[in-house]
Amino acid sequence: MNVTTTRLRRLRQKNSLRKLVQENNITVNDLVMPIFVKDKLTTKVEIASMPGCFQLGLNELDDEVDEIVSLGVFAVILFGIPSEKDALGSASMGDNGIVQQAIRRIKKRAPDLLVISDVCFCEYTDHGHCGVVVKSDDGMCGDTVDNDTTLPLLAQQAVSHAKAGADIVAPSGMLDNMVAAIRLGLDEAGYTKTLILSYAVKYASSFYGPFREAAEGAPKSGDRKSYQMNPANAAIGLLEAKQDIEQGADMVMVKPGMPYLDMVQRIKQNFPGTPLAVYQVSGEYSMIKAAALQGFLDERETVLESVVCMKRSGADIIITYFAKQIAKYLTAR
Ligand code: PBG
Repeated sequence: MNVTTTRLRRLRQKNSLRKLVQENNITVNDLVMPIFVKDKLTTKVEIASMPGCFQLGLNELDDEVDEIVSLGVFAVILFGIPSEKDALGSASMGDNGIVQQAIRRIKKRAPDLLVISDVCFCEYTDHGHCGVVVKSDDGMCGDTVDNDTTLPLLAQQAVSHAKAGADIVAPSGMLDNMVAAIRLGLDEAGYTKTLILSYAVKYASSFYGPFREAAEGAPKSGDRKSYQMNPANAAIGLLEAKQDIEQGADMVMVKPGMPYLDMVQRIKQNFPGTPLAVYQVSGEYSMIKAAALQGFLDERETVLESVVCMKRSGADIIITYFAKQIAKYLTAR
């Protein structure tokens, strides 16, 4: 046995010492709270698969915003659920669309709250896909999203969010050249200051299951495998991030979080100057909640561990349904 005089456990013997040498910390500055807002809803409705998370009507937004602000969280990401859906997702881009109304309402209530808006079509189309769908007759992938007819519509949707007052638009459809199309659209409309947070490295994941209940955006047929990434792949994620950054993304995202922290690390190492977000998605929230409700896991400790590990991997921004809860934990410490 090769005994050394180094004893690494010396650094871990007391709480104070452990804290003194801790490399990463979570603060409220890292957190983004998702909000689901539903057209024509006049109450708040709990999402069955996400206990503690709600669909809100427009009138319920004020209380939610007040609570978020009072906890010190200063960024939200907004998802809209329209009352009418059609093949092109027309309800996603009008001035009186649910998200546009919600953005204006939030900005009126809390002008300093950063509003990120998810830019996608799956909540707005009757088929539930993230763009214009064409029938594929090769029998290989089933019906799929037509990339280039969707791009101008995405740009239009992004511009309508910017016009309503969104600070950051976040395209989540994983279409090729979506960032370029949106940047061009925003700039042409005069919104040169609006940022783009691209869901650059987004996987076709089963962990989105509960979100599809929350946002009512499940595909009616087929899946999203022809546009979202294959969970078995890593290297192509670097190309996805590189392209989006070159096209003008101000920030990029890896999604989901916990099973994909290797990707967070790779993207941070390769693009250190680009702020990196990670999305702890609905299924991650549900897993921890369900286990905690059963008494199988200690909720507070598990939640805090899950997010500090995201920081350790290289994330700068953490989007999580636990954001409010984490802010409470941090102030109670
Ligand atoms: C919309 C979108 C999805 C999520 C964020 N934006 C669903 C999907 O791509 O199927 C998932 C978020 C979550 O699971 O919490 N395209």
